[in-house]
Amino acid sequence: MSSKKFSANWPGLIEAYKDWLPVTSKTPVITLQEGATPLIPLKSIEEIIGRNVKVYAKYDGLNPTGSFKDRGMTMAISKAKENECKAVICASTGNTSASAAAYARRANMRAFVLIPDGYVAQGKLAQALVYGAEVLAIKGNFDRALDIVQEIAANYPVTLVNSVNPYRLQGQKTAAFEIIETLGEAPDWLCIPMGNAGNISAYWMGFVEYYKANKSTILPKMMGFQASGSAPLVLEKRVNNPETIATAIRIGNPVNKEKAFNVKKESKGKFLDVSDKEIIKSYNLLGKNEGIFCEPASAASIAGLLKCKKEIPNAATVVCVLTGNGLKDPDCAIKNNEASFFSDLEPDLESIVKKMEL
Ligand code: F0G
Repeated sequence: MSSKKFSANWPGLIEAYKDWLPVTSKTPVITLQEGATPLIPLKSIEEIIGRNVKVYAKYDGLNPTGSFKDRGMTMAISKAKENECKAVICASTGNTSASAAAYARRANMRAFVLIPDGYVAQGKLAQALVYGAEVLAIKGNFDRALDIVQEIAANYPVTLVNSVNPYRLQGQKTAAFEIIETLGEAPDWLCIPMGNAGNISAYWMGFVEYYKANKSTILPKMMGFQASGSAPLVLEKRVNNPETIATAIRIGNPVNKEKAFNVKKESKGKFLDVSDKEIIKSYNLLGKNEGIFCEPASAASIAGLLKCKKEIPNAATVVCVLTGNGLKDPDCAIKNNEASFFSDLEPDLESIVKKMEL
């Protein structure tokens, strides 16, 4: 691990990994110092699995706008700026819109975001608004929004910053580099939630590049998880009306499906679906036992790991990607927790102490 990369002066991932990214000295780097997120041991999950299996969370919810999208967006927006673009557009279940807005405004560009009305978590919508995006909420789902923005970007002077933009995946692959640098080796398994399947493709690209450069000696099995009501990559067919509590991955027609199927094949990985109930169980487990608050979509990586725990080899190292921060979706948190909450208490010492049952 290089001390420069993980110091308080971390310059952001483009500067840190410029030799691995399609940038030149002329690229104007638009950064919020994203990347260098922690790899946190998950002791309670290790205890459930046993057999000396090591489990870590790559907590990408600690990026500047609270999700892994910032890794891709620093690249996409820097390249858009280099190409003198004045406006960007994306379709989003929320996180892409927050990230696109933050980086675009930092680069003094307009940011248009198309979202499925009523299906974007409050925190994400709040971010897009505060970052100064021009929000277009449609009476349709993410898949429809993506069709529309692709059409607009093909015909008008706006740059598309969804994960079909190749610079997005280039930026996102750096998470795999960081994991290898921290562990000194690639993990045996990488568990990751899938929506549009850009991130799983980006991680694989990163693992393969470091492997080819002799920075690791193994390649991980890529374990991709989807919510049961939105699992086109598991079913291997389009889902017309995707539904799940994990709105971030409420996607029925993933634009990177071919890439994802290749990743599964090349890595000898597996795609599985997990129910909303399993997702929420893992979401609460992470909060209560590990002190980690992620968003529901991210908890799919833990739910998936627990679902196939019998298949993990003894003493294997597993990394689960926590793609987004729990603060993104406060409504889900308030409605789905196992905490005690006593209200209407008299403001006196005696009644409070009584409630505490010490
Ligand atoms: N986790 C979170 C928190 C996400 O926001 C997303 C995607 C994913 C996982 C899945 O990643 O699409 O690369 O497979 N969110 C997109 C958005 C669709 O618009 O914010 P993927």
